[in-house]
Amino acid sequence: MQPDVVNVPQHIAIIMDGNGRWAKRRHRPRAFGHRAGRKAVREAVAFCLRHSIQALSLFAFSSENWHRPEEEISALMNLFIRVLDREVAELDQQGVRIRFIGDLDAFARPIRTRMHTAMRRTQAHQQLCLNIAVNYGGRWDIVQAARKVAKLVACGQLDPTAIDADRLTGLFCLANLPDPDLLIRTGGERRISNFMLWQLAYTELYFTDTLWPDMNEQAFEEALTDFQHRVRRFGKTTAQVTVRG
Ligand code: IPE
Ligand code: IPE
Ligand code: MG
Repeated sequence: MQPDVVNVPQHIAIIMDGNGRWAKRRHRPRAFGHRAGRKAVREAVAFCLRHSIQALSLFAFSSENWHRPEEEISALMNLFIRVLDREVAELDQQGVRIRFIGDLDAFARPIRTRMHTAMRRTQAHQQLCLNIAVNYGGRWDIVQAARKVAKLVACGQLDPTAIDADRLTGLFCLANLPDPDLLIRTGGERRISNFMLWQLAYTELYFTDTLWPDMNEQAFEEALTDFQHRVRRFGKTTAQVTVRG
């Protein structure tokens, strides 16, 4: 059976992990690793643009990451501000649409304002949809969708028997995008850590020991090649899904 080598994912999700360990190996503070991760974000965007991938979802800050030491949180918040001030213009020029997903209300006003400005400024772009998950958790996404559905039922606009997977899908943060075809997690851990729980149901998972700041073009190409050799069955048999020719 031949793998479909021209198969390119429409949507890639990435858990950008390993910044702290990257810094520790260099005897530097963890924030040094977070700052170094910016280059890998640029590489990921360039990779998606080069392959005409429609959407890239980056896990930048989880709802659980608030429990880290105050010093690290504050370094991360300062980094968000700097990144928003310095990277948005270039992404705008590249035709990238930026979206922040997660509970944005928890962020201080200077960050919220910059996020909303970046989203407005790039909203018409179509080269790549870049979703940056901040204060995001897959369970939070499911809870906020459940609230929306409960409201619709409570005010008589939705019959409970009409609730199905499609109806729910439309209420999640990334409702209008296809589910990720490929999830990359860097940094060696083999877990989902509360990222897009609903959307990852049939996503191909790719784990690499490479720490996030070390991710480069070659490392992303390796992940893509690995993906292209997978057989996605979605519950069917291999014979059913294999294209002969
Ligand atoms: C990922 O790197 C970035 C965030 C979670 C904000 P880590 O900071 O988790 O790095 P490690 O896993 O401790 O090396
Ligand atoms: C997941 O990494 C979250 C992000 C990359 C933003 P963590 O480092 O927070 O995950 P755990 O704690 O190892 O599961
Ligand atoms: Mg980590």
